[in-house]
Amino acid sequence: MPVQSVLSVEGLSVKFAQRNSSLTAVSDLDFELARGETLAVVGESGCGKSLTALALLGLIPPPGRVDGRAIRLEGQNILGLQGEAMRRLRGNRIAMIFQEPMTALNPVLTIGAQIVEAIREHEDVSYVAARGRAIALLDRVRIPDPRRRFDDYPHRLSGGMRQRAMIAIALACSPAVLVADEPTTALDVTIQAQILELIDELKRETGTAVLLITHDLGVVAEYADRVLVMYAGRKVEERATADLLAAPLHPYTRGLIAARPRIGMRDRFRARLTEIPGIVPSLRDMPPGCRFAPRCPIAIEACHLAPPPLIPVGDDGSVACLRIEDFRVSEHSASYSRAY
Ligand SMILES: Nc1ncnc2c1ncn2[C@@H]1O[C@H](COP(=O)(O)OP(=O)(O)OP(=O)(O)O)[C@@H](O)[C@H]1O
Ligand SMILES: [Mg+2]
Repeated sequence: MPVQSVLSVEGLSVKFAQRNSSLTAVSDLDFELARGETLAVVGESGCGKSLTALALLGLIPPPGRVDGRAIRLEGQNILGLQGEAMRRLRGNRIAMIFQEPMTALNPVLTIGAQIVEAIREHEDVSYVAARGRAIALLDRVRIPDPRRRFDDYPHRLSGGMRQRAMIAIALACSPAVLVADEPTTALDVTIQAQILELIDELKRETGTAVLLITHDLGVVAEYADRVLVMYAGRKVEERATADLLAAPLHPYTRGLIAARPRIGMRDRFRARLTEIPGIVPSLRDMPPGCRFAPRCPIAIEACHLAPPPLIPVGDDGSVACLRIEDFRVSEHSASYSRAY
């Protein structure tokens, strides 16, 4: 594990037991997250992004099961930690913000009480000290008039303000890792930008590492240092953001970026994955080879036979495609572009 790594995930799988078998929703996922770094996780709906996030926090609901070699958080293997041991870390060393703040906020407690609770659950401080910190946090996430807002219930706040309150709770104990699962999808565009700026600014101030799950390639371009592309529960490509957006290697990533309109930076990458012809295979019926092969315009026979290994590219990138060597030759890239 590199010295800088605050989170190192090795061979993570998430499975759901069925009557006679089990469904694997996330397969053998590896990634690392360094201090102060933002890693974006992108991929079509149902590819396992949220399950990956929940697995890190020990929040996979039964009958789901997390397997793997290790989930190292600041050097400690937290894979399989349960109950009190996991609760001590959650909200303290690793915290999560969700798409819909109302699912995470308690409707019968004031915003202030919830931040105070988050602080005092992990730190032995007086109510008065925790209250002072909570008000400072509300101010830091730019909730106006924080002293008054402290006593407000969640339903009194707008969607954007609720998301800010959730960020305040998540950051109450300065976690090493912040997992943000589509944190702005439910908000309007202006508020989205403000919330993402806020997360980015807090990250730069505190060095918290951010795992940012998003559908929006414009958001990736603007905020992520590296990108992990998932397809049907597997990592298919992981690269530095600039490299991936400029020269995507996996056919799936290429499809994702292919249809970008030629407007501003954010809009240019605002392509939706559904523009790729075909549909994602069902968990019950995964193809034996590359899971993208049935939709891939350049698949060869070998692609249908066995899952491709992850091949290292550049300094710290990787791509799971048997045709990567061909991609490095430009005429194949040209034939690929024609296929789209
Ligand atoms: N309790 C469960 N039992 C069986 N399968 C499940 C369960 N929960 C999730 N899944 C399956 O796991 C897969 C991954 O789900 P996940 O929520 O991680 O997708 P996602 O990438 O976050 O999608 P989205 O972009 O829509 O949020 C999906 O195919 C989903 O149907
Ligand atoms: Mg999700």
